[in-house]
Amino acid sequence: MRQLNILVLHGPNLNLLGLREPQIYGSLTLDDINTLLSEEGKMLHSELFCFQSNHEGALVDTIHQALGKYDGILINAGAYTHTSVAIRDALSGVKIPTVEVHLSNIYQRESFRHHSYIAPVAIGQISGFGAESYRLGLLALVHYLRKLEAK
Ligand code: DQA
Repeated sequence: MRQLNILVLHGPNLNLLGLREPQIYGSLTLDDINTLLSEEGKMLHSELFCFQSNHEGALVDTIHQALGKYDGILINAGAYTHTSVAIRDALSGVKIPTVEVHLSNIYQRESFRHHSYIAPVAIGQISGFGAESYRLGLLALVHYLRKLEAK
């Protein structure tokens, strides 16, 4: 089975996971989540590269640089989910299959979190399962990519 290369992108404030509103986002740190994901990735014959930034342009640059390098993108764009046309355009520009994830259920929260600019350019979205959202998102992405390969 061919190894898949997956880019995992974390947006602003996710570097504070563990400290930040643990009642909403849980107690795991970003490093914990990246470690769990990389372990899951190995079982799925996938190599993960994880990147976090608080800067919109850095996320856009990283999406552009993913062209030709990564088979899929798993993204939690954090607050940029609700504001960033630039990240959405970068994702639709590179056309790399993308799954959107959120730790919290964004639809149970403030109304400004109910809209995602990313959702229309993603294969799908997983929201509300804490760190498990990332693992489920990775499974969904790999499943999608393996089906593509088989065509
Ligand atoms: C988040 C939800 C966003 O609304 C928020 O701005 C975040 C985290 C989540 O994972 O639940 O930073 O993307």
